[in-house]
This record gives sequence, structure tokens and C-alpha cells, in this order.
Amino acid sequence: MDFAKEIVRRRTFGIISHPDAGKTTLTEKLLLFGGAIQEAGAVKNNKIKKSATSDFMEIERQRGISVATSVLAFIYKNFKINILDTPGHKDFAEDTFRTLTAVDSVIVVIDVAKGVEEQTEKLVEVCRMRNIPIIVFINKLDREGKDAFDLLDEVEQKLGLVVTPLSFPIGMGYDFKGIYNIYEKNINLFSGNSKKNIEETIAFDDLTNSGLEDVIGPKAAETLRENLELVSGVYPEFDVQAYLDGNLQPVFFGSALNNFGVRELLDCFVEIAPAPRPKMAEERLVEPNEKDFSGFVFKIHANMDPKHRDRLAFVKVVSGTFERNTPYLHVRQGKKMKFSSPNAFFAEKKEIVDVSFAGDIVGLHDTGNFKIGDTLTQGEKLHYKGIPSFSPEHFRYINNADPMKAKQLNKGIDQLMDEGVAQLFTLEMNGRKVIGTVGALQYEVIQYRLEHEYGAKCTYENFPVHKACWVDPEAENEEFTEFKRVKQKFLAKDKHGQLVFLADSAFSLQMTQQKYPSVKLRFTSDKQV
Ligand code: G4P
Repeated sequence: MDFAKEIVRRRTFGIISHPDAGKTTLTEKLLLFGGAIQEAGAVKNNKIKKSATSDFMEIERQRGISVATSVLAFIYKNFKINILDTPGHKDFAEDTFRTLTAVDSVIVVIDVAKGVEEQTEKLVEVCRMRNIPIIVFINKLDREGKDAFDLLDEVEQKLGLVVTPLSFPIGMGYDFKGIYNIYEKNINLFSGNSKKNIEETIAFDDLTNSGLEDVIGPKAAETLRENLELVSGVYPEFDVQAYLDGNLQPVFFGSALNNFGVRELLDCFVEIAPAPRPKMAEERLVEPNEKDFSGFVFKIHANMDPKHRDRLAFVKVVSGTFERNTPYLHVRQGKKMKFSSPNAFFAEKKEIVDVSFAGDIVGLHDTGNFKIGDTLTQGEKLHYKGIPSFSPEHFRYINNADPMKAKQLNKGIDQLMDEGVAQLFTLEMNGRKVIGTVGALQYEVIQYRLEHEYGAKCTYENFPVHKACWVDPEAENEEFTEFKRVKQKFLAKDKHGQLVFLADSAFSLQMTQQKYPSVKLRFTSDKQV
């Protein structure tokens, strides 16, 4: 097996969107093209959603919300494609942020009628901060929606992107005739026969050709010519390097449900999307084609099998090859570990794998050794940078509701925090535990999981906090001592032992900053998550 060739044929990416824009449907269609699943047509009753993606937890079945992040892999045109699924629900946004540390590029799905929605804005912002190459897919063209140019404007303004369309719709909704593929210079005709697999493609590199009228009608032909003239006048020419650098974002139009424009997207994707990219460790930049293995944990998933209390740690291979039964250094714990049954992921199943290459995701069975952000290497002491924790939005005391199960409760809380389900703060004054989350839903998830996985019961009590601010530890002076004395009630330690100020209101935060200017408050933790 040629090591270098294996790496360059890998494409590891995430699909992000606001819920309901069509992420699941698009994922299914991509799997169909890869031959990874056989079932063509619409995703009625969310069959694939339920069986192929992220359906590992009972709670998810109950709520129908994608709590988990999973991996779907398939081969297309000899490319090994790894799709990292991301939960769309905003209460699980932190999960998605963490998954974005493991992707080499993303596809953003936008609903043609709804345009850019809130969740998309947040996720794209994280991608932009990390210079992740982005392709935009505007979905549901079979429905009435916004004008294509207005949408492109909206994407530029709300998402802060520089776009260039690589395809352009011919009509929309009832009038939708097809798509002109600017990249390949051909027309895809939309038949309206929704369950169809492959649509008709007609090469059209010369749009002045009067044959265009015969294919889409005189009115649509005229509009298309005008639109394309405008496109070439207004938008920059597509440049692969600019896309790879995160400075230019190609846009495709289509309808995932009708399998329309998906092949164009996929064909272009495998051609232009990056192979595994180098990753910055605290010590140095690590290249994927280095011989020695290194990787990091970006996701921990509990209880894949409800009968066993084991967890699966998802490791992104950053460099070299990960091999079964080979000792690797768990850098944080400073110990060597071997894995006899590492999992690789395929469309609908996971399998034990002997070798995984840079770009791949390996699932390691874990009995509590891993935390999110942990690095594994062949021996070198590398620390990959994760994304810092942000201040949670909700805070509640957690109380033990069953005195006989205190140990189980503490263990459960500990492990759920290692998984990154929520953030734990322990009050300095009285040692009470406060759980901070992004969304209120997580409290139910935690309660449910504590009960079903650890046999522990908990109750919550409101704790009004406006923002968690990490306190810079260097400022040990008189002012700092005074700050600690006066604000004692609002001080806590996070899971890494860092001091955190839990400001109860925006006003109190502002006053504190004014009164103790030498006490540095940060709004994210620098520590790895
Ligand atoms: P998500 O993962 O981003 O949340 O979205 P998902 O794929 O589940 O799609 C949300 C809804 O939008 C689904 O309908 C899906 O069928 C529909 N959809 C996706 N792509 C298209 C498209 O190109 N055109 C049209 N018209 N609809 C599309 P649903 O009724 O909520 O669910 P289902 O019962 O059809 O699965």
C-alpha cells in the first residue's frame, strides 16, 4: 500500500446547517452515489437518519434529535470519503464545534426559502476562524425560494464569505427547469420526476448556441444568458487555492431530496476539497505524511451498546498510520496503550480495522482513559490544540437525589464532563457543583444518562449566572486578593482547576472589571476542551 497515495485520496469533511435545511438528506444522497447504501429516493420517515447516522443512544431515539456525532465513510471515484456528522440542534453546538476540529473542509447547506439561519451563522464563524475551506450548497430548489442573486448577497453579508457560484439555477420552484453547471459547462435538466436517480445532462459549453432555446425554452434561455453574464461580471473567477486558503467559497444549487445537483457537488468536491491538512500542535506543525502516527480525541461517545458501559473515543489520525495492537503514547497520562479492536466506520456499520491513515477517524474502546482533546502519538510529546471552552449560557446547581448513590453520581458527572456534554464548576465557598450548558435540553440529557447509565439520581436548582469568566492566574497581587475576598461567593474552579468568576449580571461583570482592572478576565478557557 502506497502511504502517500492513501493520504491524498482522503477527504474528511463535515456537513453543517441549520436544522431542517437538508443535511441528512444530502448525506444520504452522497452515500447513494458512493454505492454505500442502496436505497434510492426520498428519506421519508427518516429511515437512513435512524439507521445510518448517529443513532447510538436511546435518548436520541426518544427525542429524534441528533445528540451524537458519528462518522460515515465511503469510496467514490477511488476517493475515501469520511463524513463527520454534526448535530444540528443548537443545544449541542459545542459538539459540532469540537467536530470541526477534526474536519479538513465543510459543506454548508442552506434552505433556498429560509436563507441564512442563525445556527449556520455561528457554525460558519467557527469555520472562518479556523480557515476551513467551505463549499455552500443551496438546497430545495424544487420549491419557491429567494432569488439566487439575493441569496448570494445574503450569504456574503451574513456569513462574511466571498462567494462565486459554480452552478446556477434555471428557474425555481414550479418553474424550476434545471441547473447550469458553470464548472463543467453543461446543463442538468430537472424532470420533476422526484424519485429519479440520475438526471439528464447536456453539454453546453457555448451558451450562444441556439440549441439552448430548444432545451429550456426561449424565455429561460434569455434569462440564463443574462444571469450568467452577471455572474461572470460580479463574482470572482473560481480559484482552487483561494478556496483552500478559506478566502473564496464556491456555491452550488440543487435539491438534495430530488437528487438534483448532488453529483455535481460531489464531483467537484472530490476534485477541489483538501486532502488531510497539517495540524498545529502546541509544539510544532505536524504534516499528515509524516511517518510517525499522531492523532487526537475529538469526541467521546458513551454506551454504544446499552448492555456494556464502555465508551468509544473518536480519534482523528493527523499523521502517519494508526495500527492495531501497536503501543501508542497517551501524552496526558504519560503511558503507552495498545488497542486490540480499533473501529473504522463505514456507511452503516463499524468494523475492526488493522490500519488507518491520516485523515481517517478511528473509534477506540475506552474505559475512562480519554478526555476530549487528548493526544496519542508514537512517542513524541505533542499536544494538539482543541477549541477552548466558551462560557455556557445556562447554569444550575446539581444535587444528589439519592444519598446511597453519591459515588455513582460523582463518577457519572465526571465522565459526562470528560465527554464534553456540559461544563462543571465547583464553588470555592462550599464545594457545591454547578453544571453549565449551552442549551436547557442538556440538563434532561444529563439527568437521563445519570439515571440509565450510572444508576444515580439528581435534581437541579437554578443558579442565576450571566457569564462564566476565566480568571487569569498570573495576577497575584493585593487587588487580586481583595477580588477573591469580595467575590468569594461567585468564584469556582472548572474541571481543569482553573479559577472562574461566575458573574451574576452584565452590570456586576462591568463593575468588577472597573473595580479590579488588574484582574484579567477571559471569556474562553485557554485549556483544551
Ligand atoms: P436536517 O438534517 O438538516 O435537519 O434536514 P433533513 O435532511 O432531515 O431535511 C428536512 C426536511 O426537508 C425533510 O422533510 C426533507 O425531506 C426535506 N428536504 C430535504 N431536501 C429537500 C429538497 O431538496 N427539496 C424539498 N422540497 N425538501 C427537502 P420532512 O418532511 O421534515 O421529513 P421527512 O419525513 O421527509 O424525512
